[in-house]
Amino acid sequence: MTTTYEEYRPRLARAERATDVEVRLAGRDDIERIAALSAERSGRDVGASVSRVTSELDGGGGGHAIMVAVRHAQVVGFGRIRNVGPDEAARHHPAPAGWYMLGLVVDRHLRRMGIGTGLSLARFAWLKERGAMEAHSLVSSQNPTSIDFHASLGFEVVRVGPGFLDVSFDCGKGYLMRRCL
Ligand SMILES: CC(C)(COP(=O)(O)OP(=O)(O)OC[C@H]1O[C@@H](n2cnc3c(N)ncnc32)[C@H](O)[C@@H]1OP(=O)(O)O)[C@@H](O)C(=O)NCCC(=O)NCCS
Repeated sequence: MTTTYEEYRPRLARAERATDVEVRLAGRDDIERIAALSAERSGRDVGASVSRVTSELDGGGGGHAIMVAVRHAQVVGFGRIRNVGPDEAARHHPAPAGWYMLGLVVDRHLRRMGIGTGLSLARFAWLKERGAMEAHSLVSSQNPTSIDFHASLGFEVVRVGPGFLDVSFDCGKGYLMRRCL
């Protein structure tokens, strides 16, 4: 399985921002498109991604949510939110319990236009409405684009490790990041 990252271009001049993008909670009609974006990024089979996204939306119950960015009636990105309880946090690679922003993908033709930022600001607002004080995120050490992206949102590294929760980094090293809300 190959996980693909966006090419790191720190000195790229700021591209035009997408101003015609709406961010909202995902519904069942969005499952196929979220799965397609997810499969393209992860190299996994689309069918497996459909099953995963369906179970996340069905089993939401306040603990899971997915936000989508929509442009011209098409889902062009998504970002997950997950509430990790103490039992789950102690399993696999231990990490703090609480709210995580795990999984963010923007259509590769529409990157560097502020869509990932918009998806993240909407997730911060959603978490704040629920009384959350902080959000965590996980980033591979081999994904400098995501490291800079998280820094641009105010995330800071709080731990380094081979994995956190049920996520093991392919390269063996990554970061647990935190941002106060
Ligand atoms: C990471 C990702 C979600 C960012 O989404 P995006 O919509 O392109 O991000 P934004 O346009 O909101 O960028 C905000 C800031 O992040 C940083 N950034 C984004 N892309 C970057 C790149 N290719 N290289 C360096 N910095 C980058 C910049 O600081 C940027 O601000 P600037 O454009 O004013 O310089 C997107 O690249 C993606 O889908 N990558 C593949 C999946 C992935 O790696 N997800 C993260 C997993 S932890």
